[in-house]
Amino acid sequence: KNIVILISGRGSNMEAIVRAQIPGARIAAVISNRPDAGGLAFAASHGIPTRVVDHKAYPSREAFDAALADSIDALAPDLVVLAGFMRVLTDGFVNRYNGRLLNIHPSLLPSFPGLHTHQRALEAGVRVHGTTVHFVTPTLDCGPIVIQAVVPVLPGDDEDALAARVLVQEHRIYPQAVSWFVADRLSIDAAGRVDVRAES
Ligand code: GRF
Repeated sequence: KNIVILISGRGSNMEAIVRAQIPGARIAAVISNRPDAGGLAFAASHGIPTRVVDHKAYPSREAFDAALADSIDALAPDLVVLAGFMRVLTDGFVNRYNGRLLNIHPSLLPSFPGLHTHQRALEAGVRVHGTTVHFVTPTLDCGPIVIQAVVPVLPGDDEDALAARVLVQEHRIYPQAVSWFVADRLSIDAAGRVDVRAES
């Protein structure tokens, strides 16, 4: 399966997926909306083609998404992976990749959609927090859940400590979710929930 990974920054989740060397997965390219994204250097040093589609070069979200879609479609991917991609995508874009667009979000959805999840978890006083891989649908951070991981919130945690504990789990569950997709083990049932088929 051909995979395109979209990043905006550090790219540590992209790196985890690349390092996992998932059987049957070929990373066709890494695309960033920011020319200075740290993850681009890692991808290039691993022989993965990189592209930049700079959102600042486009007059509107629609124009940016159209350019991004052109760049993605040229690579004919089976799966598009959002890995710390920090742009809200238009419904048109999301629908174009229906069923083949994954995202990782740093909270236990449906708790804490949106930004600043670790800070908000601390403020809410939750005792557990975590991360979610989900299919992307037009409603932000609301699509069918593929896999989640839980971490404790510990006394004395600050945002950085909690984020670091969650990130370890992100790096574990995102390659897992991608490997399920690549092995054709994921489907979405009539109620919009993800079924993970047993290995055949
Ligand atoms: C991750 O915490 C991801 O869940 C969030 O942004 C962060 C990206 O980190 N959406 P990286 O770029 O993968 O290192």
